Amino acid sequence: MTTHVVPGLEARFALASAVAREAGAIALDYFKRHETLVVETKRDPQDVVSIADREVETMIRARLHEAYPTDGILGEEYGLERGTSGFTWVIDPIDGTSPFVNGMPNWCISIGLLHNSTPVVGVIFAPCHDELYAGAFEMGATLNGKNLVLDPARTIVNAVTGIGANSHVTPAVVAKIVEDLLSAGGNFIRNGSGALMLAYVAAGRLVGYYEPYMHAWDCIAGYCLVKEAGGWFHPFPTEGERLTKGSPVVAASPGAIDDLRRIAGV
Ligand code: IPD
Ligand code: CA
Ligand code: CA
Repeated sequence: MTTHVVPGLEARFALASAVAREAGAIALDYFKRHETLVVETKRDPQDVVSIADREVETMIRARLHEAYPTDGILGEEYGLERGTSGFTWVIDPIDGTSPFVNGMPNWCISIGLLHNSTPVVGVIFAPCHDELYAGAFEMGATLNGKNLVLDPARTIVNAVTGIGANSHVTPAVVAKIVEDLLSAGGNFIRNGSGALMLAYVAAGRLVGYYEPYMHAWDCIAGYCLVKEAGGWFHPFPTEGERLTKGSPVVAASPGAIDDLRRIAGV
């Protein structure tokens, strides 16, 4: 597939970047008064959400739907609306809601786009850092306009790996991941936003990211960014109902692919 067989990609990419900034401004306004937010829980007491997540997703969906009414949209808070164009937007209005409601800056807006099953746009905006990560299929990836190109000399031993976990997996599974990574000479970071850590992989800050169970809205944008920066990702299943279910998420810089695949068993 080349860009000329994906008509309309560049315009969608530009829209995603503009909408991510607009969404970031709304979210940042809530973040500045996060103490006043009513924090609700979802699956468990660690799985939190507030009006900020819902309002931001509502705005993003409205903008995308207005511009591309036949595209599908999957968002964390309001689910999947199927489209007919072959494009499906995959959005997380706020990834890192736990840091967000607890007053930490590690959160982002994540807007991905699938063309059939291929991630073709990835835009991640981190408002507290004013960092816009933007990539599109065969167009490369940038951070605030600067090209991102991964260094193959970086490995799990000489760089840091991001990991994540939630209550979908057992403590023993998480403990084994940490044990395997440390035993291989690596070390880990978890900052509370899987999408932002995937953007950090694209930026060469982290050498890889592994989380055993995440959703499409957590990873599709980051996957596109990592690929466009020269890295690798483990494909997320997008067929039928699987698009809305969880799956292992693994992405790596070239020098970390083999080690992370072994640790993740993919
Ligand atoms: C969560 C974050 C977290 C990851 C969880 C995700 P949310 O997303 O990405 O880092 O470990 O699995 O659910 O709830 O902040 O959008
Ligand atoms: Ca998320
Ligand atoms: Ca979210």
